[in-house]
Amino acid sequence: MRSINTTGINGLDEMLHGGVPDASITSIVGPTGSGKTIMSLQFLHANLLQGKKCLYISAAHTLEELVTNSLKFGWDFAPYIENQMLIVKTFEPVSIICLGTEVTLTSKYLDELPEYLHSHTADVVILDSITEFLMLCKNDIERRARILNMFQLIKGKGSNALITAESDTNTNKSTFGTIEFVADGIISLRRVQSKDLAELIHIIRIIKMRWMKHSREIRQYDITDTGIEVYSKYHVMLQM
Ligand SMILES: Nc1ncnc2c1ncn2[C@@H]1O[C@H](COP(=O)(O)OP(=O)(O)O)[C@@H](O)[C@H]1O
Ligand SMILES: [Mg+2]
Repeated sequence: MRSINTTGINGLDEMLHGGVPDASITSIVGPTGSGKTIMSLQFLHANLLQGKKCLYISAAHTLEELVTNSLKFGWDFAPYIENQMLIVKTFEPVSIICLGTEVTLTSKYLDELPEYLHSHTADVVILDSITEFLMLCKNDIERRARILNMFQLIKGKGSNALITAESDTNTNKSTFGTIEFVADGIISLRRVQSKDLAELIHIIRIIKMRWMKHSREIRQYDITDTGIEVYSKYHVMLQM
């Protein structure tokens, strides 16, 4: 029987009947501002508290940004970086070289990210986000091949992984669509209008979680001062 790992979010653990299974790859898919980065940091913090060795890869934020902003939610990552239970690796997917009026874009990211995953081992791998990687691929075939390769690298080491992916606003589908087919789990974040049309409400649902029974509910969640809070189903009040 595979053990189950907490996501650090009580309501989401409830929907997952405990959490995500060991050695699985789960993707959080949602539009910009839906809380993917915050959720990934909350997941990271919960796993560090459980004594897991974690690798956090960011293609969007600097180390300083991540560490400073996490403190606002009460997550202090500095001691874990110090004792090497946490490695934070940041990538700049594209470099811009300006020579006079000439602007050149260069990128080694498509090779650098798999090389990095190959040469590092951790209980938990978090990548925020995969979208920059997929954006650099030439076509869907390359996207699928490169994702499969990356997933084999992660699975080969037995790591548990959480990967965020951008989606177009108001769809359940990630921007390049590839991750849905290969990830073991897909958690979708969306924004919908409230019944009185006065506000946008965040909703979460589990699209799939391989080998596991899970809830099919649509639940409301909020981004609060202590992170993501997923409410009970009775809070949902949607314009559907
Ligand atoms: N302390 C807070 N309280 C409430 N909402 C917050 C707080 N901090 C950030 N947010 C919300 O989180 C959003 C950004 O979350 P983020 O995880 O960066 O989204 P994503 O990675 O999906 O683009 C902001 O747009 C803001 O609405
Ligand atoms: Mg983000």
